[in-house]
Amino acid sequence: MFTSRMKLAEVVQANFNTLSVINRFGIKLGFGDLSVGGVCEVNGVNIDFFLEILNAFHDKNYFPQDHLQSFSIDEIVSYLRKTHNDYMYQNIPYIEMLLEQLEADCINPDEIKLVHNFFNEYKDELFKHLLWEDNKIFPYAQSVEQAYLNGNNVKQVVEALRNYSMKNFLGEHDDIESKLNDINILFVKYLPPVYNQHLCIRILRELSFLERDINDHSRIEEKVLAPKVIEMEKFLLKQHE
Ligand SMILES: [Fe+2]
Ligand SMILES: [Fe+2]
Repeated sequence: MFTSRMKLAEVVQANFNTLSVINRFGIKLGFGDLSVGGVCEVNGVNIDFFLEILNAFHDKNYFPQDHLQSFSIDEIVSYLRKTHNDYMYQNIPYIEMLLEQLEADCINPDEIKLVHNFFNEYKDELFKHLLWEDNKIFPYAQSVEQAYLNGNNVKQVVEALRNYSMKNFLGEHDDIESKLNDINILFVKYLPPVYNQHLCIRILRELSFLERDINDHSRIEEKVLAPKVIEMEKFLLKQHE
């Protein structure tokens, strides 16, 4: 488990993929020997929140205890939205660019079309998932927090949560990353050997990095965001029994 006294460089050495999390907090490379706590102080980042996200991202079995302490739903949502933006405007367009490059390099581009089509289908599915969260789930979570903290629109929120609560979200929240693994397998098994192998390996790396990042992202939604909202929902329901 990562702690505030550890050096941030050690965190990165333990799990290189944490770099994408660190970047989403606006922390730039070149942190020298600074501890996690020190880097947060310099960058004005909430240390409890940063550690919670880092640990949930890194450890599949990590389960936060104190759901209502230290940081807000707004902070979690803002982090999750940043991650969605990374997927939509960085990761997916980059893989698309590589696939186009591969297609341009081919003698017979039709052969790569199958993988490309499969990827396009996946992209539509992923974007639908991200927009559903951006437009429905996150605003709902924020409205629960506003009702819980400031009593804003309590009646409407309690009414709404009787029809759709965060438990429904957990039930509907599907596994959006496993299809990326299918695309990888398709690549490894069926791509003719004539293609630029270095480019193929780069695409495979990007796909598996994205698969892992989305998996860790989903864990933050399910283990950090949802339990916190559920605690607040319980409180609001009790108040309005
Ligand atoms: Fe998400
Ligand atoms: Fe999600």
